[in-house]
Amino acid sequence: MTHDWIAILDFGSQYSQLIARRIREQHVYCELLRFDTAAAELASRKPRGIVLSGGPASVLEDGSPACDSALFEMGIPVLGICYGMQLMAKTLGGVVEPGDSREFGGAEIGLEDASSIFKTLPSALHVWMSHGDQVAQMPAGFEKLASTGTCPVAAMGSREKNLFGLQFHPEVVHTPCGKDILRNFIFDICGCAGDWDMAHFITENVNAIRKRVGSDHVLLGLSGGVDSSVAAALIHRAIGKQLHCVFVNNGVLRHGEANQVRDLFGDAFGMDLHVADASDLFLDRLKGITDPEQKRKIIGNTFIDVFSKEAKEVGEFKFLAQGTLYPDVIESISPIGGPSATIKSHHNVGGLPDDLNFELIEPLRELFKDEVRELGRELGLPDYVVDRQPFPGPGLAVRILGEVNAENVRLLQQADLRVQEEVRKLPNYKDIWQSFAVLLPIQSVGVMGDGRTYENVVAIRAVQSLDGMTADWFHLPYETLEAISSRIINEVRGINRVVFDISSKPPSTIEWE
Ligand code: XMP
Repeated sequence: MTHDWIAILDFGSQYSQLIARRIREQHVYCELLRFDTAAAELASRKPRGIVLSGGPASVLEDGSPACDSALFEMGIPVLGICYGMQLMAKTLGGVVEPGDSREFGGAEIGLEDASSIFKTLPSALHVWMSHGDQVAQMPAGFEKLASTGTCPVAAMGSREKNLFGLQFHPEVVHTPCGKDILRNFIFDICGCAGDWDMAHFITENVNAIRKRVGSDHVLLGLSGGVDSSVAAALIHRAIGKQLHCVFVNNGVLRHGEANQVRDLFGDAFGMDLHVADASDLFLDRLKGITDPEQKRKIIGNTFIDVFSKEAKEVGEFKFLAQGTLYPDVIESISPIGGPSATIKSHHNVGGLPDDLNFELIEPLRELFKDEVRELGRELGLPDYVVDRQPFPGPGLAVRILGEVNAENVRLLQQADLRVQEEVRKLPNYKDIWQSFAVLLPIQSVGVMGDGRTYENVVAIRAVQSLDGMTADWFHLPYETLEAISSRIINEVRGINRVVFDISSKPPSTIEWE
């Protein structure tokens, strides 16, 4: 890494990613790393500073997650936050004790020293506490920098060694001066320049990918979604025709999707793109299947068959590229860590098996979703790609309740296209997490001319959400609902009724099956 950067060792706090966010907002690059990353590895990558995050464990428990103690002897500034502070204190010979009561929420701290990490801050600060244990005795060489009525050492520091600890969380919005504290750490104490941006990210990653790949070739499964599209654009920038993309048309994509991918990546970017049109095979295997989990299994397995066959025809590959993001990499670190820490990892590539003999290239693994979108824009991807809503791997198959067949796919694609077109007109379109149509397995009565019809019903689903785990139904304006309904009923033959889903998750889910 040629650029200034800060390493954040992740002890599993729900706020670890926020620390990264707050630092990158100040134009300093940072990476979240495992809490037990070896000091030697860190030393070789020369971070300007190290942050030890908070975490749900207690340093007083046996086997709680610990960092490499050599970290504190490298001459690199370290900032411990909450659990990170307690770990620093304990490792360096201080004493940590259980607090009288667990302290959660806002607290006033009084500064006892307004130089170094608290430079330019007022003498009393409102901060956010969330801890059980606290430092009862600081390690030798440390001074108390702040305290509260219930927490005698709310902040500590060794100016000589540039080691600092905060009992509270500077990264959350409930600590209004938190940004200033982090700024003092990364600029004054660590000496970062603050000139990092997405253009730097591209330059550094392009160089790193070129160096790693050499004259070998890279395979990438393009799904048309944001992550794989941005990964493809970045890797293509680095190695051009040594990147080979495979796009599988599974027959349950949205209207025009396969052509869009071909036009953009094949034609506009000039990538080596291989489109495997396996619609017939997928639909054939889905014949007669109504159970949602079986649909998912069939689509997942068929994807692997088709992708592997196509890849074999394209050639030999040493590397497989994926658009994995940090939240996909580490979902959780167990409260009781150490060697037994369970780090769940999952692969976000439409279900490729783990035993494929590839080395992985995951250039987005340090980024957050909105940063990936920004990177995509910087790489020249159009808005319709970078602002795309999440779309499930099994596609329209889980939005066609009952059997999936060519006619149902056509009906739903046409209805869905109209939902997309109308919803995109909204000025707050980007506030919608997902919006789509669902084809219901019932016929309802209607009138057309003098006769009765029995035709299909479509439900409209639109939700707002932060992460897909919980969701509220999105309040689409009546005008939009009206336009969607009348366009679908008038323009899509075979649908005579449109309803709007107003359930939230939980207890409902976003998809209907
Ligand atoms: P639910 O319906 O569980 O969906 O509230 C949460 C999010 O996950 C997506 N989803 C899937 N994505 N394969 C995927 O890749 C699937 O089988 C699948 N099922 C649901 C859904 O679109 C939403 O974003």
